[in-house]
Amino acid sequence: MATTRSRTRNQEVTRSRNGGEETVRTRARSDGVTRERLIELLNEDLQREYQAVIAYVVYSQVLKGAQYMTIAKELELHAGEELAHAIKISRHIDYLGGMPAVTPKPVKTSERAEDMLRFDLEAENMTVREYRERLLQCESQGLYAIAEDIREILVQEQEHQIDLATALGKDVVDAAAPEELV
Ligand SMILES: [Fe+2]
Ligand SMILES: [Fe+2]
Repeated sequence: MATTRSRTRNQEVTRSRNGGEETVRTRARSDGVTRERLIELLNEDLQREYQAVIAYVVYSQVLKGAQYMTIAKELELHAGEELAHAIKISRHIDYLGGMPAVTPKPVKTSERAEDMLRFDLEAENMTVREYRERLLQCESQGLYAIAEDIREILVQEQEHQIDLATALGKDVVDAAAPEELV
């Protein structure tokens, strides 16, 4: 019996021959990423963390208007939390044998406070979606320590969503990507 294993970007295919018969098993994207792909995806998460650090550092200082002073203080706290996330994700990339990324995803800028808060909320929505996926991918590979850290990070990202949605006067459920709740 011969077994060959080949890997593609989003799926792992295992072929086994038994008495001339060949079976092909393809794992779904969410639980079948290769280690190389997982490193790539974690590096994108890391780039989003850098993006968040920069956005929160800048926005917390340039937000103007009495009604935004409370959220400006919250954004300062977010900046520190995002930095801690970046360090954790970098540690796991290194553990997996990858090299942590050194560049952030692009940071949007605006003169308007409402725009800045909306940019942050959109970024947090994306971050939550991606970490939910990453959690499943790590668990499916038996990477429980990484999954545990991502679970803790997710709790904070969802708090960030709530802070931003509240500051924008939006319903939190609507603001936090309702399709995720279906
Ligand atoms: Fe984060
Ligand atoms: Fe966040």
